[in-house]
Amino acid sequence: MAGCKNLIGTFMLQIIVLALFSLHAEGQGLKVGFYKKSCPQAEGIVSKVISDVMAVAPSLSGPLLRMHFHDCFIRGCDGSILLDSPKGQTEKFSPPNLSLRGFNVIDRVKLALEKACPGVVSCADIVALVARDVTVATKGPHWKVETGRRDGKVSLITDPINPVTGLPSFTSNITVLKQSWSLRGLSTKDLVVLSGGHTIGMSHCSSFEERLYNFTGKGNNGDTDPTMDQNYVARLKLKCKPQDKTTIVELDPGSFKTFDDSYYKLVTKRRGLLQSDAALLNDPETRAYMIKSTSHGSTFFKDFGVSMVNMGRIGVLTGSQGEIRKVCTKTN
Ligand code: HEM
Ligand SMILES: *[C@@H]1O[C@H](CO)[C@@H](O)[C@H](O)[C@H]1NC(C)=O
Ligand SMILES: *[C@@H]1O[C@H](CO)[C@@H](O)[C@H](O)[C@H]1NC(C)=O
Ligand SMILES: *[C@@H]1O[C@H](CO)[C@@H](O)[C@H](O)[C@H]1NC(C)=O
Repeated sequence: MAGCKNLIGTFMLQIIVLALFSLHAEGQGLKVGFYKKSCPQAEGIVSKVISDVMAVAPSLSGPLLRMHFHDCFIRGCDGSILLDSPKGQTEKFSPPNLSLRGFNVIDRVKLALEKACPGVVSCADIVALVARDVTVATKGPHWKVETGRRDGKVSLITDPINPVTGLPSFTSNITVLKQSWSLRGLSTKDLVVLSGGHTIGMSHCSSFEERLYNFTGKGNNGDTDPTMDQNYVARLKLKCKPQDKTTIVELDPGSFKTFDDSYYKLVTKRRGLLQSDAALLNDPETRAYMIKSTSHGSTFFKDFGVSMVNMGRIGVLTGSQGEIRKVCTKTN
């Protein structure tokens, strides 16, 4: 009976996921330069606002790159991450949203675009363009962003919670991570490449605290993740005391402000901060990619642009679907 329920459960999950991502990673209707005629200045305006913001608040590069990931993985890249609701019932209020910031930057870009070309550029495209521009601002690769996404009208607080259909968790193992990527039409290579986004930015202690203090649930001081470099564990313990909810530490110590390939060097030395980073060593393909990326033969920069384009195609609304929001936090 239990087995039967399980089977039905799995089947239901597949149906739900198929419905959610029926357009997964095909991205029909998207193209580079979608606004060439309707708003030729669009991409220039986005870049200008981002370079102004980066000059005064460079720490927003991490959250703004991460925002495109969170948007695309829930209901496709449709700007649903940006929607507010009076009672805080939208995606951004869900626990895995942890520390997403920079929503006001998106609003600022939108304001500038509405002035130049009212009602033309979608919020979903703004999020995609901003993710590229902050990558460039941190000395990372440049890629051509496909545009033409339209904005969704739905955003639910419950959507992100399931680690497969929603956002992957920092404790997700390699099996779950691969499943999460493949459900969205993304490859295992896209998984290891996009995880390289952790070359910039910060994490709260709470996202890896268990690895320091409570790995098996015994909760004593010595209960650390044995797969983690113990010197690194010791250093992290100095910064993060148990139950610390406020301290943030670098995801990629030493170069967290620079988009480079040092993330892979650290993870292969068992210094990945999150369990989901370390998990990439437990699969032959992701492991091989990590090792390759620590050498001169690294193709990470080129690959990152390709995988970001792939991610940017997940479940997009195009043509006459959805709408072009006037304000990114509200449906029209
Ligand atoms: C593989 C699955 C992933 C998991 C489980 C994951 C999880 C996390 C967690 C837990 C944090 C720290 C949040 C906090 O405690 O404040 C974080 C930060 C970050 N993530 Fe991921 N992430 C994943 C994939 C990605 C992808 C695909 C990207 C983009 C390409 C990305 C970009 C970032 C960035 C830039 C930060 C730093 C944010 C900041 O500076 O505030 N992550 N991620
Ligand atoms: C994220 O979710 C938490 C808990 O659901 C909520 O208290 C917080 O305000 C949310 N953060 C943002 C930026 O919306
Ligand atoms: C991975 O995590 C899932 C969900 O928590 C679990 O069911 C599965 O057994 C885990 N797989 C491995 C190989 O640990
Ligand atoms: C350690 O983990 C267990 C199981 O997840 C939990 O019940 C317990 O409260 C945790 N202890 C501490 C000190 O966080």
